Amino acid sequence: ISNMLIDSFGRQHTYLRISLTERCNLRCQYCMPAEGVDLTPNPKIMSQSELVRLATLFVHSGVNKIRLTGGEPSIRKDIEEICSQLSNLKGLKTLAMTTNGLTLARKLPKLQECGLNLLNISLDTLVPAKFEFMTRRKGHERVIESIHKAVELGYNPVKVNCVVMRGFNDDEICDFVELTKEKPVNVRFIEFMPFDGNVWNVKKLVSYAEMLDIVGKKFSGIKRIKDHPTETAKNFTVDGHKGTVSFITSMTDHFCGGCNRLRLLADGNLKVCLFGPSEVSLRDPMREGATDDELREIIGAAVKRKKGSHAGMFDIAKTPNRPMIHIGG
Ligand code: GTP
Ligand code: 5AD
Ligand code: SF4
Repeated sequence: ISNMLIDSFGRQHTYLRISLTERCNLRCQYCMPAEGVDLTPNPKIMSQSELVRLATLFVHSGVNKIRLTGGEPSIRKDIEEICSQLSNLKGLKTLAMTTNGLTLARKLPKLQECGLNLLNISLDTLVPAKFEFMTRRKGHERVIESIHKAVELGYNPVKVNCVVMRGFNDDEICDFVELTKEKPVNVRFIEFMPFDGNVWNVKKLVSYAEMLDIVGKKFSGIKRIKDHPTETAKNFTVDGHKGTVSFITSMTDHFCGGCNRLRLLADGNLKVCLFGPSEVSLRDPMREGATDDELREIIGAAVKRKKGSHAGMFDIAKTPNRPMIHIGG
């Protein structure tokens, strides 16, 4: 293992998030504007063999966890083949996916066979009409069905990502906690973050402190458990519940000090931080015939440019980035 993935703050990057597509079968308001976003033309999207080649380089340099994101990763036609190829990489321990769950239930048994072993499903409301408003599409019951299917197939815990927005779903926090009573799900409340085109505004942000207060008032036995230093989430158990609840506090209490994440976007750009515009194309040199060593050099230099932490929520909101649908979280 080289030190290609160690940044200038000593952080070792062992977790690669790969966006497989910019397309999605939902239109969530916090992820993209109503008019949609410009799509990278298909020939410029990384092919299966290109992304597997890059993933292999990363795994040989110490990455042990890959998460597939999008857009919606499960709509990619070659998703099963991609999972098989990646899960076979020696040194990879975890192959994860973050999905909206819309068409997951029927695809999941096959994906599990292909090596997908960690699953995060996005669900922001338990009310079908609110789901339609937020996602600009129908399908609430299909997402619920996918969560049940994942539990049934033995994913434990199934992580349920809930982006909390004031005036939209802040009244449902305790209902989401109730979900963890009988099911081994980990409900993760996420602070609303600014991205291009999602009209973020601090008034819509429900802070970690406020969320914890809401949960603490209703559920007396909520206890912080120790989380891994590289984790995005602060984790809690609730007395008598099979599942757990967590908070992802990117805005009010960032966790950049333990960051171990890099992102490979669908167009082949390496993005070293979720926020900030710093990106470098790996696709172009690869298509121009770069050797693995040359690619390693480009990757290493980009990692060394990574900042120690993001710039704070108000600066992030002012800095151009991409729409979330391109980044995949
Ligand atoms: P696990 O691997 O299961 O812990 O999931 P994860 O939290 O790494 O990934 P997921 O795709 O489920 O993302 C959950 C939330 O965390 C989303 O809102 C992401 O945007 C956010 N998130 C993921 N990685 C980072 C990160 O590196 N920095 C920040 N600030 N937020 C992140
Ligand atoms: N703020 C916080 N989380 C977001 N996600 C998408 N957009 C935002 C945002 N603006 C979440 C999705 C998904 C994960 C990848 O990121 O709900 O679960
Ligand atoms: Fe890592 Fe950037 Fe996220 Fe901070 S904001 S945790 S540095 S990706």
